[in-house]
Parts: sequence; structure tokens; C-alpha cells
Amino acid sequence: MVAEIEDAIVGAISGYLIPERPDTVFVWQVAVGSAARGQGLALRMLDHIVDRPVCRDVRFMETTITEDNAASWGLFRKFAEARGAELTHDVGFDRDAHFGGQHDTEMRVRIGPFASSGG
Ligand SMILES: CC(C)(COP(=O)(O)OP(=O)(O)OC[C@H]1O[C@@H](n2cnc3c(N)ncnc32)[C@H](O)[C@@H]1OP(=O)(O)O)[C@@H](O)C(=O)NCCC(=O)NCCS
Repeated sequence: MVAEIEDAIVGAISGYLIPERPDTVFVWQVAVGSAARGQGLALRMLDHIVDRPVCRDVRFMETTITEDNAASWGLFRKFAEARGAELTHDVGFDRDAHFGGQHDTEMRVRIGPFASSGG
């Protein structure tokens, strides 16, 4: 989804429903332009996605986050808290095993179960 102010895109989220697990939406990337940050926009976009009709069966959200991305951890923790859901994490893609030392380890984060209004 994209968020616009007038004709300018100020935020975007990419993701997909995992085909083998249609109760889970995977969030690939979240971005909010620097001028629009800190106003709850990313949280509103996550809420909007989960509450879409296409997500009516969604009970879990998954994403990957590098350990040092405080804003992203804060965002997903806040989403979990607002939905009264548990957040768990483990190593998703390891710096050495998966990235040949070229990229920070990505933690796999799972949130849920939570309710979706689906409407
Ligand atoms: C991460 C990002 C999308 C957050 O967007 P945002 O619209 O500013 O986030 P929100 O205003 O909805 O914040 C929701 C919660 O996230 C947390 N949060 C947001 N920015 C934070 C920061 N810089 N540090 C710590 N926590 C932060 C807070 O808990 C916040 O709730 P609060 O304001 O009530 O405390 C934005 O900072 C961004 O685009 N960063 C660069 C791209 C990126 O790293 N994306 C994630 C990896 S794909």
C-alpha cells in the first residue's frame, strides 16, 4: 500500500499473504518519508493492511528486522501491543550463513494471534 499527501507518496509498505499459510501476512518493507515520520503513519498503514477484506483470515504478521533497527522494532512492538498479541523472534537470515558477511543478520519476527476486522 502507499500513503499519499495530496499527490505525493509519503509512505509505502510491501508484503504478501504466505500461500501455504493464508493466516499470515508477511511484511517485506516499510518506509515513511523523513518529513512524515513520528506521526503514527507506519502504524496506521499496518492496521489498514490487516483490516482489509483480503486479510479477513489473517491472525499472524511476520517480518524480518536487523537487530540495530530501533525504529522498526519499536513499530512492530507497538503494533503487537495495540492488538494484544505476542511478539516472538529468532534468527531468520544469518550474516555469515546467508549473507556471506555482507549484510547484518535479519531477525525473523512473528506477531499473533490477533483479531482482524477484515472489513
Ligand atoms: C520505521 C519507519 C517506517 C517508522 O515510520 P513512522 O511513521 O515514523 O512510525 P510511527 O509514527 O507509526 O511509529 C509507531 C511506533 O514505532 C516506534 N518508533 C517509530 N520510530 C521510532 C524510532 N525512530 N525509534 C524508536 N521507536 C520508533 C514507536 O514506538 C512509535 O510509537 P510512538 O510514537 O507512540 O512511540 C520509518 O522510521 C522509516 O521509514 N525508517 C526507514 C526505513 C526502515 O528502516 N524501514 C524498516 C525496514 S524495511
